[in-house]
Amino acid sequence: GAPVEVDISKLESGQKINVEWRGKPVWILSRTKEQIANLAKLDDKLADPKSEADQQPEYAKNATRAIKPDVWIAVGICTHLGCSPTHRPDLAPADLGADWMGGFYCPCHGSKFDLAGRVYKGVPAPTNLIVPPHKYLSDTRVLIG
Ligand code: FES
Repeated sequence: GAPVEVDISKLESGQKINVEWRGKPVWILSRTKEQIANLAKLDDKLADPKSEADQQPEYAKNATRAIKPDVWIAVGICTHLGCSPTHRPDLAPADLGADWMGGFYCPCHGSKFDLAGRVYKGVPAPTNLIVPPHKYLSDTRVLIG
């Protein structure tokens, strides 16, 4: 499959856009400063907080799993059995609990991921969501693939 070029100039803070790459959904998520700061508070709840399993390119192997901390790019497919998790950026919703700081919830079997796609402990998904290869062509254009 060919790489996909995406214009992110209209991506607003906190918003997610979806594109397709190699027949898969790819998310481009803008994270707020607060959401970025909250990532570090979740580590003890996560199965692989440092993303040590190889789920992202080297340049995204960092605390935010991104080239730019405020823009996170991921394949939007649950690492359990392939459903597409739902973006749940809301804090402490009734169904996900008081300590939920925003993330992704898979409706199929209840896997939970944070806003860097890091999987929670004790859910069916075995690994973090996958960050695909990507690079910036300019401040507002990113190439996926
Ligand atoms: Fe997502 Fe099973 S496919 S939890």
